[in-house]
Order: sequence, then structure tokens, then C-alpha cells
Amino acid sequence: MPATLISGVHIAATIRDELRVEVSRLKNEHNLSPGLVTILVGDDPASQSYVRAKNTTARDLGLHSQQITLSADTSETELLQLVHTYNLDPLTHGILVQLPLPSQINEANILSAISPEKDVDGFHPVNVGRLMLGEPCLLPCTPQGILELLQRTHVETSGAEVVVVGRSNIVGKPIANLMFQKRVGGNATVTVCHTRTRDMAFHTKRADILIVAAGVAKMITADHIKEGAVVIDVGVNRIGQTASGKAVLAGDVDFDDVVKKAGAITPVPGGVGPMTITMLMKNTVQAAKQAAGLL
Ligand code: GUN
Repeated sequence: MPATLISGVHIAATIRDELRVEVSRLKNEHNLSPGLVTILVGDDPASQSYVRAKNTTARDLGLHSQQITLSADTSETELLQLVHTYNLDPLTHGILVQLPLPSQINEANILSAISPEKDVDGFHPVNVGRLMLGEPCLLPCTPQGILELLQRTHVETSGAEVVVVGRSNIVGKPIANLMFQKRVGGNATVTVCHTRTRDMAFHTKRADILIVAAGVAKMITADHIKEGAVVIDVGVNRIGQTASGKAVLAGDVDFDDVVKKAGAITPVPGGVGPMTITMLMKNTVQAAKQAAGLL
């Protein structure tokens, strides 16, 4: 029997409906409008498109959203000054600096300059540390989206064998941590595989839940998984383009092969992707409530 499809499109739409209600309540009862500022440096088309999608979604949910675009030759000092300005702005609850940044700017310096309370990406070292300690914090959006996908499709994580493929700061490291912590949606036994793992299939075949964030198109085939496994594909790889110039995307999982053997699987596109932007909105609402003393 083919796998159940875990639709990030549908689950994200449900969460967005919940957020719309919450944003409206905050406005009516507390005169509070969650505010997001996105900062894009340069004119990379993929980054432009991501930032546009973040702003469109924010406005659609009733958030106050502002996009700032700076030229590709912006200095680190100029960007730091802008971040500082928004750190002090009481109407801004979330600040997102789109990555990657041009080479003259040190990303770590910028991420560390954003106030941890406004760090809606969850990339500030303070939030990374709080996550590891299991303390309340702004969680990074993609791992948080994966937790929501698993919880809302009622996947049991307690005692489950979870294998994460990939060890990035944005996905692999945080999701591995979140999955083994003593918490609802956690309590799993976690293995992390990476480019130096000797026998990938040996590990991935043990997984009840396989989370793949390696950035290699279609690297996981049916031979890598156990019958009935839940497969979460974080990869978004451009593998070509259509005659009309539209990008053809593939995940890190060979969907057509794995769908025959998995119990449940996220598609690409339409799986983890829509969840990531939705969690950014959730974080902005959370940051605004925190700032207003409502949490
Ligand atoms: N570039 C690609 N993904 C992300 C993300 O989640 N946040 C930021 N700030 N930049 C990105």
C-alpha cells in the first residue's frame, strides 16, 4: 500500500487559520499588532522570492510587515546599525535578515546582533542554547515545522527510533535535539548521519521516523528505509527547468521509489516548505505576545 501523504500545504493552512484568529484577537483585545521586519541584502533571485513570500504571508495573516532591501555592497557596520534600530523599535517584534549575506558581511556577527527576543529565525546563540537546554525560546522555523507535521499527523515519537540525515545548524542539529528531549513530541532515540557516516543505509533502515536534510537530490531510496517508516523530506533541490523556465524541484528523498514502501511521507514541494514560513509567522506572534507581557 502506498504511503499516506503528509501535506504541509494543508497543515500550514490550518495553522494559518489559527494564527489569523489569534492576530485578530490580539488587535481587538490588546491593540497589539505583531510586527515583522525582513532585511534582504543584494538581489539574489531565490532570496528575493523567499522574502517576498514571507511578507505576503505576514500581511495575509494581518501582521504588520515591512521589507527592507539593501544594495549588495552594504557594509557590515551599516547592517548592524539597521538591526540595532529595529532592536529598539517597539512596533517591531520580529527581525529576519535573509541568508546568505554577501561575503563582506560576517553572518554570525549579524545573527548575534539581533535581540534574542526578536530573533524569529531562532538563530541567535542565546536561543540555540535555550533550545538545547529545553528552555522556552523562539525555535528555528524548519525544525518547529517538522514537530508540527509529526504532532498533527499523530506520529508517536516517544521511544521511536529517529534518524536525522544532515547536521546543519538550521535543521539537523536543532531537530535532533528537539526529538530526544523529554517533552511532548520528543522522547525519541536519535541517530544523526552525515557526510562521513560509513554505512548510511545501516542507520536509516532502523528509523521509525527518518528526517532528511542533506541537500542532495533523491539520495534516499527505498533501499534506505524500513517498511512503514515515516519519512520527512526537508530537501529542496533544483534539478532542472521546464520549457517555460520554471524550476523543477526534487527533495533529498527519491519520492516515487520511497512512497511505495513508507508508511507516510512529505512531498516536495508541498511538505516541509510551507511549514517553515508558517512557523516564522507563529514566532512573530509569540514574540509580540512576549513583548506585551501576554505569555
Ligand atoms: N535563507 C534560507 N533559509 C532561511 C531562513 O530560514 N532564514 C533566513 N534568515 N535566511 C534563510
